[in-house]
Amino acid sequence: MYKIGSTKEVLYTEQKDLTEEQIIVTRQTYERNADRYVLNYERRDGALDEARLFTLDPFLREFEKQGLEGKILFTGCGSGRDMEEAVKQGFSVVGIDTSLHMINIGKIMGIKSPMMEMDMERMDFPENSFRGIFCETAIAHIRKKDIPSLLASFRRVLTPDGLLLVTFRKGNGFVYMTEDKVGGRRYYTSMSRKRADKYLLESGFEIIGKSSHKVGSRPPYYNLIAINKK
Ligand SMILES: C[S@@+](CC[C@H](N)C(=O)[O-])C[C@H]1O[C@@H](n2cnc3c(N)ncnc32)[C@H](O)[C@@H]1O
Repeated sequence: MYKIGSTKEVLYTEQKDLTEEQIIVTRQTYERNADRYVLNYERRDGALDEARLFTLDPFLREFEKQGLEGKILFTGCGSGRDMEEAVKQGFSVVGIDTSLHMINIGKIMGIKSPMMEMDMERMDFPENSFRGIFCETAIAHIRKKDIPSLLASFRRVLTPDGLLLVTFRKGNGFVYMTEDKVGGRRYYTSMSRKRADKYLLESGFEIIGKSSHKVGSRPPYYNLIAINKK
């Protein structure tokens, strides 16, 4: 199965898209190992600084620059590290994640903003509920073929001219797997920058910011900031 290539931490499969089973395995990994994920990744030393530098602060500064006010939805919020920082900076936030364990850790750690167990592919919010959506990395855990409908539902819950940050895993287009400190396997899609841009543009977003960054020996992240043109 793993014949495309590998790095120290990453094994590529010969598939172009995730299977249902890989999505379930990934969700179970987050759920069963949430405490270790939070300790080793989300809240390890320096992780918040990285998030602020590469994604969170650029998004929040753009939110201000666009003159936006109101709630920001964090999809795949984990234990809420970035939500917590956004609140410290004066923003109003809501978080959703498929892992109840992650959310409970966030609540135990003192997060007071709403955090819900919810699949971002099946969001239960009225139209125009949010002025911003911050979707850092979780999009790599859904099928490529489902990205257009995910982006359509992001547009639906975002107000006109609302702001989106979305982080893709940049790569050769193949699905890859990590089996690491958290225990359990996680599967991700990877794609070119061109393909990621195309998803957003075809969904009706206007891209206003692009950047890439890399942490450790994993594939680089590709971050897009975009406006919901309604
Ligand atoms: C790579 S982690 C990122 C967590 C956090 N944003 C961070 O930067 O550390 C991905 C998170 O997305 C969640 N997730 C995966 N698929 C999801 C989905 N369809 N809807 C909501 N959350 C999802 C996982 O449970 C996990 O907490």
